[in-house]
Amino acid sequence: MQFICKTATLNQYKSDCTVIFVDPKAALSTAAKQADDLCEGALTTAIQAGDLKAQTGSTLWLYSPNGNAARVLVIATHNKTAAPKQSHLVDIEALRELTQATAKALITKDIAHASIHLDTLILEGITAEALAHEFSYSLEHATYRYTATKPSHAPLPQLKKATFAHDNKDSVKLLKAGTTSGYATAKGVNVARELGNLPGNICTPTYLAQQAKKLATNCTVLTTKVLNEAEMKKLGMHSLLSVSAGSDQPAKFIIMEYKGKTTKAPNVLVGKGITFDTGGISLKPGAGMDEMKFDMCGAASVMGTFQALVEMKAKAHVVGVIAAAENMPNGHATKPGDVVTSMAGKTIEILNTDAEGRLVLCDALTYVERFKPKSVVDIATLTGACVIALGHHATGLYANQQSLADQLLASGRATHDRAWQMPLWDDYGKQLKSNFADLANIGGRAGGSITAACFLSEFTKAYPWAHLDIAGSAWHSGGNKGATGRPVALLLNYLLNNA
Ligand code: BES
Ligand code: MN
Ligand code: ZN
Repeated sequence: MQFICKTATLNQYKSDCTVIFVDPKAALSTAAKQADDLCEGALTTAIQAGDLKAQTGSTLWLYSPNGNAARVLVIATHNKTAAPKQSHLVDIEALRELTQATAKALITKDIAHASIHLDTLILEGITAEALAHEFSYSLEHATYRYTATKPSHAPLPQLKKATFAHDNKDSVKLLKAGTTSGYATAKGVNVARELGNLPGNICTPTYLAQQAKKLATNCTVLTTKVLNEAEMKKLGMHSLLSVSAGSDQPAKFIIMEYKGKTTKAPNVLVGKGITFDTGGISLKPGAGMDEMKFDMCGAASVMGTFQALVEMKAKAHVVGVIAAAENMPNGHATKPGDVVTSMAGKTIEILNTDAEGRLVLCDALTYVERFKPKSVVDIATLTGACVIALGHHATGLYANQQSLADQLLASGRATHDRAWQMPLWDDYGKQLKSNFADLANIGGRAGGSITAACFLSEFTKAYPWAHLDIAGSAWHSGGNKGATGRPVALLLNYLLNNA
């Protein structure tokens, strides 16, 4: 979508729809009165008839035969909690309700150009920049449709352009800044959704490597390097290679480096890129196995975050590493009881080949030591146990440094892409003892997300590190099955605050 920010009052220029915000329980603002005039009094009539519900995000369509836009979309801003003073305090969640309601309403009609009057939305404690960020984010997010293998996917949204209008000239600069970041975030989220949604027969490790290369073409601030299996073998990545051993698809180790206007040490992102997880010889049951095409959503979130950094020309130094492999059970596949030596030199007894995420990540986490990183965050659809613990709303967060955990938690709250911290205690780590190797790759059913994190923590002693288990948050199951693009918004917010 195209976004324009400008100083304008209602009806000053042509578009397909004027959007204003109205509290039906309060007196009409100047802009709302003007809209009422343009609709020949229909707004007043509708409010009196109770057609605009006093509930944040309720919508009302009106028509303006003589105006510069044929339609007027009215969005209700009434706050349910009517406590005095506090009543204007709208947090990011309520703002999201408004932006999502606006986007949802606009894409149901044949509207190509919407004119959104942000000066009619006054929310205490929320800047014009935050408003523009949230609106551009929600609009760009709402226009995404998966069509790669379903070209008939209907209805395709017609919305191509949004103008954010404000009557105050000084606010327009803030609107522009917010639009840049909101649009870039949504583009990154949509890249992650698309990669996640692509089926395993298209989105292979080789495909991920090609996409990463493509992102870096004609881009001076981004470089991409891809290691093949022979190069990984030389580095001693036998743990990673034990996962791709049973597949005809070769593993790829993807390294992206974004360096924009800074010489600081990098923050590093490491993504789990299992493009399909059958479980290997420890084969998964058939029901729902298709969803294991989403097992590369950690990698997708890294790609999406890099897309956003490039899009907004961010001032930041970020390294992104993707360990991409397919987990299959052919005659070369790793067997339960096999022992491999990781790049770090630690031996691992593979008791369950379905606990493959940690096997690819541990070598990636050792590899990134060479960047002398300020921080390392890995992102992985790592455990079904995390879904049992936290459900689908929160990402599981683990860290070996509390200040890093606090920053990531704060970024999650600020973007409504929330994480919840879990313990990394030694008591859990003890469950990974093996009689035949330094570590076993599973620690029993109890605390499965935690023991997986403890396994990774054995390889991350050289730097501040956090692990995001996105098994529950990365995709929706059921009727609206699809990737969510999480946690791109959290990651981007964290990286920009750290640049
Ligand atoms: N990719 C899965 C984790 C997963 C399962 C994510 C269900 C989302 C939904 C991972 O590779 C896996 O299979 N983990 C095992 C670990 C177990 C064998 C210790 C699991 O969670 O069952
Ligand atoms: Mn698995
Ligand atoms: Zn997996």
